Amino acid sequence: MSRPPDSAPPARLSIRNLRVVYGGAVTAVHDLSLSLAPGDIFALLGTNGAGKSTTLKAISGLLASEGGRVEGSIDLDGQSLLGLRADQVVQRGVALVPEGRQLFAPLTVAQNLMIGGHNLPPQSLEPVLQLFPALRDKLQRVAGFLSGGEQQMVAIGRALMARPRILLLDEPSLGLAPMIVREIFSTLRRLRDQQGLTILLIEQNANLALDLADRACILENGNLVLEGEARALAGDPLVRELYLGRAASLPAAVAAESAVRTDRPGPAAQHDRHAWRSRARWPA
Ligand SMILES: Nc1ncnc2c1ncn2[C@@H]1O[C@H](COP(=O)(O)OP(=O)(O)OP(=O)(O)O)[C@@H](O)[C@H]1O
Ligand SMILES: [Mg+2]
Repeated sequence: MSRPPDSAPPARLSIRNLRVVYGGAVTAVHDLSLSLAPGDIFALLGTNGAGKSTTLKAISGLLASEGGRVEGSIDLDGQSLLGLRADQVVQRGVALVPEGRQLFAPLTVAQNLMIGGHNLPPQSLEPVLQLFPALRDKLQRVAGFLSGGEQQMVAIGRALMARPRILLLDEPSLGLAPMIVREIFSTLRRLRDQQGLTILLIEQNANLALDLADRACILENGNLVLEGEARALAGDPLVRELYLGRAASLPAAVAAESAVRTDRPGPAAQHDRHAWRSRARWPA
């Protein structure tokens, strides 16, 4: 992997026994442990309400304002992120592309991008424009009037303006045409391949996510139910049946390769694949 000389070194993220409780009443994440090696693309998959966004918000220091209490540990290169404010987490090299993009609709594209670099020395928009050439002639356009795909490019560009070492993305494909999604995903792959960026991605489109990612996990009701190599998950008959909308029957060689870990400690139901099977199918 080649990195430009001025790019930051890739980051290692380690989450141990993460538990998040909202308002002292709703436990959104029960006991989640994950680790991302530098330059990993990791997909966080799961049904609605599984705790995916909560996990990214916990990493990003965004839960205090939502009444979420975070327990466990979240370390970036061995240093704890717990208890830091959102802007301090950004300074450490973590940037979030939030669910629904959350652009400043009345501001221009250029203004939205510059906001991502706040608290950092002024820098050029050029690297973002090279990644997303479609934005070049739209810099003075009001962000709220862009297409969904262009807005997602601005949201990713805004996060990259903070020069992150790890990029967190919450459902970047939501509501976008397949061609735009392919373009955005190939840009993410390029960011990892060329700059070594570590990427943690939430995605409802599991086919797409498992195609891009090196490793992945599935959350259900705040519990981790499966984790492993993305290729093994994509080849697992049960994952295929429940989440990928494909037939469970596979060529024997592919099925044999399905080395998904189910041996994590936790509630018994977490490992009961029959109980899991009877639950709701992944939403379309
Ligand atoms: N601010 C909040 N206050 C109380 N409960 C919340 C809050 N935010 C989320 N929750 C609850 O926490 C649980 C997990 O929510 P979260 O948004 O993390 O799920 P998700 O996996 O991202 O789902 P989706 O795929 O629908 O985006 C849900 O039961 C949700 O209702
Ligand atoms: Mg969510």
